[in-house]
Amino acid sequence: MPEQQVVLVCRHLLPAGLALLAEAGHEVREGGLEATAEELRELAPGCSAIVADPSVEVGPPLLDAAGAELRVVANFAVGYDNVDLDACRERDVVVTNTPGVLTNATAELALTLTMAAARRAGEAEADLRSGRWAGWDPGAYLGLELSEATVGVVGLGRIGSRYAELVRPLAGELLYSARSPKPEAERDLAAERVTFEQLLERSDVISLHAPASPETHHLIGAAELRAMQPHAVLVNTSRGSLVDSSALAAALAADEIGAAGLDVYEREPEVPPDLLAAPRCVLLPHIGSATRAARDGMATLAAANVVAALAGQEPPNPVI
Ligand code: DGY
Repeated sequence: MPEQQVVLVCRHLLPAGLALLAEAGHEVREGGLEATAEELRELAPGCSAIVADPSVEVGPPLLDAAGAELRVVANFAVGYDNVDLDACRERDVVVTNTPGVLTNATAELALTLTMAAARRAGEAEADLRSGRWAGWDPGAYLGLELSEATVGVVGLGRIGSRYAELVRPLAGELLYSARSPKPEAERDLAAERVTFEQLLERSDVISLHAPASPETHHLIGAAELRAMQPHAVLVNTSRGSLVDSSALAAALAADEIGAAGLDVYEREPEVPPDLLAAPRCVLLPHIGSATRAARDGMATLAAANVVAALAGQEPPNPVI
């Protein structure tokens, strides 16, 4: 019988993941949704694994609080910008993520935001709920028709590619910018690879699917917004840091772009007040992967990564 090891679940793990950890004989310490960084550090000593998510910063303070037993940080997300990879490497701690299982959910939410923002569904619903709707008006809520629109996808990884497939039947032209050519998308979806600058200028809809990194920080700022068409719709379901939210709010207020649909913010759960006040902007609370199938899949993968790493095996989804 292997020695019982302690897994710190920083916030909350769905039953599918807890069942796997229990089956492997691991003890779970759960921080809960309200746990502060300090409380997590108090729970960490002696744990062999940490299950984190995008809202938990995993850096030297938490890693050192865990101590020498720590073998793996399993992020309950495909993105891992909340984890200090160098600090984990220095401490010989493996880092894993949960790719694949949330591809459909996130791409479908990007399509939802595309259509909701293009058709100004957010402000129209808010008006109706608040009693501001005064009846059918031929000039009200005029939006962008997606049929025949040029859609530009920034980043054709798993989620970007799935979004491209979903939006393809609606789009006139499909453009993409990516570090390397994607021959399959060019062949199967008639996608045209263009530079980021060309994509900004030519697209009616721009959807961001790139990871957070120093290179993508404020990828969309005032200059990029000015380069877009005045009716362009910007969608972001990747990470908040890709968009300079003040510049976006100003561009929307000045009618420099058509609309925006956002699911992610730079300092979640804070949503910048100027974005909340901006017109033609649909704002969702980071629900890209929030389907039963995706979240169960993420919980299962996060736990499977922990179980493998603690058994001394190569985990299914290593990041480092
Ligand atoms: C991820 O997996 O990175 C998502 O943002 C979580 O919803």
